[in-house]
Amino acid sequence: MIRAEHISKEFITEAGIIRAVDDVSFHVEKGEIYGIIGLSGAGKSTLVRLVNRLEEPSGGKIFVDGVDILSLSEKALLEERKSIGMIFQHFNLFAQKTIWDNIAYPLRISGWSKAEIRDRVDRLITFIGLEDRAGSYPAELSGGQQQRVAIARALATGPKILLSDEGTSALDPRNTKQVLELLDKARREFGTTIIMITHQMEVAKAICQRVAVMDRGKIVEEGRTREVFFHPRHPVTRSFLSREEEIVEVEVDDVIPAAS
Ligand SMILES: Nc1ncnc2c1ncn2[C@@H]1O[C@H](COP(=O)(O)OP(=O)(O)OP(=O)(O)O)[C@@H](O)[C@H]1O
Ligand SMILES: [Mg+2]
Repeated sequence: MIRAEHISKEFITEAGIIRAVDDVSFHVEKGEIYGIIGLSGAGKSTLVRLVNRLEEPSGGKIFVDGVDILSLSEKALLEERKSIGMIFQHFNLFAQKTIWDNIAYPLRISGWSKAEIRDRVDRLITFIGLEDRAGSYPAELSGGQQQRVAIARALATGPKILLSDEGTSALDPRNTKQVLELLDKARREFGTTIIMITHQMEVAKAICQRVAVMDRGKIVEEGRTREVFFHPRHPVTRSFLSREEEIVEVEVDDVIPAAS
């Protein structure tokens, strides 16, 4: 479904050239959830922005469903982007529009008829389990509910691919779980292929079939999720796993005195 071959991205800044993505190759199968983990600045966001050409690569090739997206004209690229949905850490909903109108928005700009829009939005609202909140505004919903709306909006036009850039990072564990379950449901019911950027190991562990670990622009380790977590080979993966454990321990320690 997605195949990247030796892609690189350099940013030219006053401080010099930053190689944000450095000769990265990977592929994602149809209907797979592929995790990308790594520390801040590793190049994760830049890498997924190359997949829908929000950033132009400095080198390499990217194929989406067999199509060389770097060869597309501006017009063909806009069309191709409709098949790639995206969600972000801060939901990015339209604050002045209701939940219903937020989800309808991409359908309106894609020229769907009123009847088609009504039918599709109603089905999506049911899919995310927020039937009773159709007329609410984003600010009236919890973070997890808002992210579910953002997912419905991203899925509205029936994209083949969903890119999630830290889609659960702003959520508490309960809402994180609900959003992850929804993403997995999208994969099962619609066959959506998903790339999930996350710095939360638990998130990758919960739903990704495979994960890649990024460090300084490179994929330093990749494999089946369980394999990477239980038998990490690269020092960066190991330090990342131990760092995450420390955070969990702090939370556990906090709970004990309060309970006694
Ligand atoms: N538009 C840009 N111009 C210049 N440098 C950039 C630009 N975008 C990203 N970078 C640099 O590229 C590197 C990778 O950034 P990127 O945002 O991809 O990292 P990330 O892994 O997503 O980090 P985070 O976890 O903090 O979101 C960083 O050093 C960043 O400063
Ligand atoms: Mg990022």
